[in-house]
Amino acid sequence: MRMSTIKGSIVILDFGGQYAHLISSRVRRLGAFTQILEPETSAELLKDAAGIILSGGPQSVYDENSPKANPKIFDLGIPVLGICYGLQYITKVLGGEVSQGKVKEYGSAKLSIENTDVQITKDLPNEITVWMSHGDEATRLPEGFERFGTSDSCANAAFADVSRNFYAIQFHPEVTHTEHGNQILNNFVECCNTSGWSMNSYKENVSTEILKEVGDRNVFMLVSGGVDSSVAFTLLNNVLGADRVQGLLVDTGLMRKDEVAEVKDAFDKLGITNLRVEDASEEFFAKLEGVYEPEEKRKIIGQTFLDVQKRVSEQMGLSIEDGWILGQGTIYPDTIETGATKHADKIKTHHNRVDAVQKMIDEGLVIEPLKDLYKDEVRELGEELGLPHDFVWRHPFPGPGLGVRILCAEKVAFSPSDNAPVSLVPDENNKRVKTLPINSVGVQGDGRTYRLAQAMFSDERTPNEFAYRTAVSAVNSLVNINRMVFCTSHSEATKLKFTSGYITPERAELLREADAIADEEMKNAGLYEEIWQFPVVLLPFGENEGGQSIVLRPIDSKDAMSASAVVLPPDVLKKMTNRILDIEGIDMVFIDLTNKPPGTIEWE
Ligand code: XMP
Repeated sequence: MRMSTIKGSIVILDFGGQYAHLISSRVRRLGAFTQILEPETSAELLKDAAGIILSGGPQSVYDENSPKANPKIFDLGIPVLGICYGLQYITKVLGGEVSQGKVKEYGSAKLSIENTDVQITKDLPNEITVWMSHGDEATRLPEGFERFGTSDSCANAAFADVSRNFYAIQFHPEVTHTEHGNQILNNFVECCNTSGWSMNSYKENVSTEILKEVGDRNVFMLVSGGVDSSVAFTLLNNVLGADRVQGLLVDTGLMRKDEVAEVKDAFDKLGITNLRVEDASEEFFAKLEGVYEPEEKRKIIGQTFLDVQKRVSEQMGLSIEDGWILGQGTIYPDTIETGATKHADKIKTHHNRVDAVQKMIDEGLVIEPLKDLYKDEVRELGEELGLPHDFVWRHPFPGPGLGVRILCAEKVAFSPSDNAPVSLVPDENNKRVKTLPINSVGVQGDGRTYRLAQAMFSDERTPNEFAYRTAVSAVNSLVNINRMVFCTSHSEATKLKFTSGYITPERAELLREADAIADEEMKNAGLYEEIWQFPVVLLPFGENEGGQSIVLRPIDSKDAMSASAVVLPPDVLKKMTNRILDIEGIDMVFIDLTNKPPGTIEWE
């Protein structure tokens, strides 16, 4: 992180939430330069900032080691906006009171704006939907502050000291699920004396940076087939020339149906031929044998990528000793969600941040030209580089591929509340709700959770609005659940048969088939552009012995930092379900109703 402040920039003090970079990117789009700095940055270094934003964070201000800003920043005469933890920090430091809220609040809430004369509420309606993710709240305001917004679960959801241009909001204006969030940020930017910045200059700047960083070396790049690594590979080709770049597409055996051929073909059409395809599927399956734990799977997949890359690069004479460094398509969310900033809780290890890569990054042997960009910005850059629209707007696909969508478990999951295994037998009193014998990853209150999923059943077999609403409230109120799914193949909870399972070629093939059906039906229904991403997940249980289940997870998002579950038209959902049930070995189908937070987009 940069240690001095550029005059006229808006500084985001990163309290470790998942959102600091997102705030930064939003503010840049509003035309102000931003810098993300450590919370403890001295007031002296901040004195030239045009504004200061205090981000959200995973801790309580009362935690012993919770991050703290320098209180002198409030004497600089610079506008300050505190978001979530930032609000709580302002409250505590300026003499108000923060307490644990009556209920933890994750997801959307209605904010009533009681005073529209405050600068930050300019051009807002009297009520907006906002995105909340917090446990604590301000119960007494500091002197000089007045409340201007309230929600059902959080009385002091927004307040300000207008004389000093200090604003505090409990919700997250930076996520797209907050209505008018950009307007709110823009209103804040308008209070600040900023100097301008534009995205147009980004390509030029990043090209200069690539030339400088690579020097007289060359770049060897792992291309996953996804949008990010494809754009990064094209950018490197453009800036350095084909002779100084070599791409490697590793077929892990965890790719989607026909994916390898399609990617190769797309690059061929662009005249990019310096991409080698290496079939390493046997090696991946061998290394993943008997592995159940999600983080371990991710680490093994990341490490195996590197082993294959090392082997192939040596075969081709492209090793570090020969002057080649590693290129990666890492983007902002990948960096922030691994806890790369000091105070962020670790949600998942991204395969491009495993220890061996981290070591290479520290040694200056990795170039990540997209590391400051968000997904929509990567796509914009891709189009600017001349990549075809359809190619650039393909749904994102995770680096570890289907590996994070094949759920593995050795034993039936345990219920944390009573520490007993989840019952596989339906509850006689309630055949419409059932806890599933599997844990998945979630993000609640900026921290990682690994909790149980619950399933709803109904005669309609397609979720209605009530089911979606219930999913939000149930996940917020049940401590040991982070996900709610709806069964589209059965109307009542049946006895489940659990089969211990890890990643095998057979399970990968089952998922590939189901994924291809969901993809085809989504395209047939004209929904591809509307849906941001549509993971399809395989679970190790079903109605019959050895049977498996499929979860459909269509989501809407802008940047992967927050997401909402997409409501599929009932006829499309029925068709997908029926066709998937025709796959031998799949006997149950669910659709995931969970937003992010509290669930992550992928299950692992
Ligand atoms: P989550 O599950 O964290 O996913 O809500 C956010 C976005 O990131 C993608 N994802 C990954 N992408 N390497 C990647 O390149 C990874 O290890 C990885 N894990 C998740 C995910 O598909 C979603 O778009």
